[in-house]
Amino acid sequence: MSKVLVVYCSMSGNTKAAAEAIAAGARKAGAQVTIKTGAEAQPMDLVEYDAVALGSYDAFSYMGGELKGFFDRAYYPTQGQVTDKPYAAFVTHGGGGRAIQSIESIAKSFKLSKIVEPSSIKGKPEGQAITDLENLGAKLAAAAGK
Ligand SMILES: Cc1cc2nc3c(=O)[nH]c(=O)nc-3n(C[C@H](O)[C@H](O)[C@H](O)COP(=O)(O)O)c2cc1C
Repeated sequence: MSKVLVVYCSMSGNTKAAAEAIAAGARKAGAQVTIKTGAEAQPMDLVEYDAVALGSYDAFSYMGGELKGFFDRAYYPTQGQVTDKPYAAFVTHGGGGRAIQSIESIAKSFKLSKIVEPSSIKGKPEGQAITDLENLGAKLAAAAGK
């Protein structure tokens, strides 16, 4: 069974809800899914999982510190070991959402492979946004199995 990791940071629950919707979609599509906060995630998780979703709230047009901290901790230990690994980015925001660019830029530094356009959601994900996040999870699960 392919393994999908969802790493996120969340101050007030919106991004956590988005992470859970992605995880549900990936599970429904047959993947084994683990959710971790940026603080919980370990550098070698990036190597061990087959695909990864990376998400944050928008914090002054950048990703939240927990996710950035994870990237910082993971950079040297994973160098050369995550090239072309499938990833998908997601953010929740209050009307801006430029944090998505910061995640995509760092994912590029890691040489991860974007397999789907990022999800950017204003506030708490509900309705169609949940469906879109589940679909993103399903795409990640499919990419993880290849
Ligand atoms: C410190 C801080 C800075 C923020 N800066 C922005 C911002 O620059 N642009 C924006 O659209 N939203 C901004 N927001 C709003 C959050 O990104 C938004 O409410 C998000 O959905 C919160 O997600 P969470 O519930 O997972 O913490 C900021 C929130 C916080 C706490």
